Amino acid sequence: MPVSSRIEEVRNEITALTARSSAAKDLMQGVCRQLHERMLKYNWVGFYMLESGARPPMLVLEAFVGAMTPHTRIPLNQGICGAAASSGKTIVVDDVSKDPRYLACSLETRSEIVVPIFVKKAVAGELDIDSHFPAAFGAEDQAAFFTVLSPLIRPFMKSTAQGAVTSIYLASSAQVEGLTGQYFANSKPERSSKSSYDTGASRRLWQVSADLVGLTIGSRN
Ligand code: SME
Repeated sequence: MPVSSRIEEVRNEITALTARSSAAKDLMQGVCRQLHERMLKYNWVGFYMLESGARPPMLVLEAFVGAMTPHTRIPLNQGICGAAASSGKTIVVDDVSKDPRYLACSLETRSEIVVPIFVKKAVAGELDIDSHFPAAFGAEDQAAFFTVLSPLIRPFMKSTAQGAVTSIYLASSAQVEGLTGQYFANSKPERSSKSSYDTGASRRLWQVSADLVGLTIGSRN
């Protein structure tokens, strides 16, 4: 069965679980169990969450399935886990023996992925997965985590109706008639992300999009 179909099964199970259990810790434990049981190469699955108010900031192991680990508390300047939480970026390590940041949890671990979880634009914790296989986490696995994790963070997110308010305002309000080229959030103009001002990236995005839909761009670049 392809990775995407297995992930789809996990997502369905998690959606059902979300309806049954309200405590975040139960949900995390359920997600760990599902990923560990259904994904053949996921040999250790756990959630580390940032301890609230801790100085210095500390990741605390909240739920896991797999071998016991000595790393139940990880400061942000240690490990792959600390690096992912402090950078806010997913880290994939194809061969843990070659990464000096790696904190060993089991001798059998060969590769690892750590996916930060954001709540209201700030890192709140992360999903950490270890595999006994080298380079176990491909693009398909990585792309799937948003789907897997979204039921978990839904309580912190806007509802569909709340999410539509800015688009409806922009489409219907006389206050913004004729206005173009600006980014809005919560019905107010805002500066968009730093990467959105990267003209090289925007040209590449045009080109890739045009190639994907078979469009000839002409003189636009
Ligand atoms: N390997 C992690 C530590 C957590 S254990 O794998 C469970 C790291 O390097 O941060």
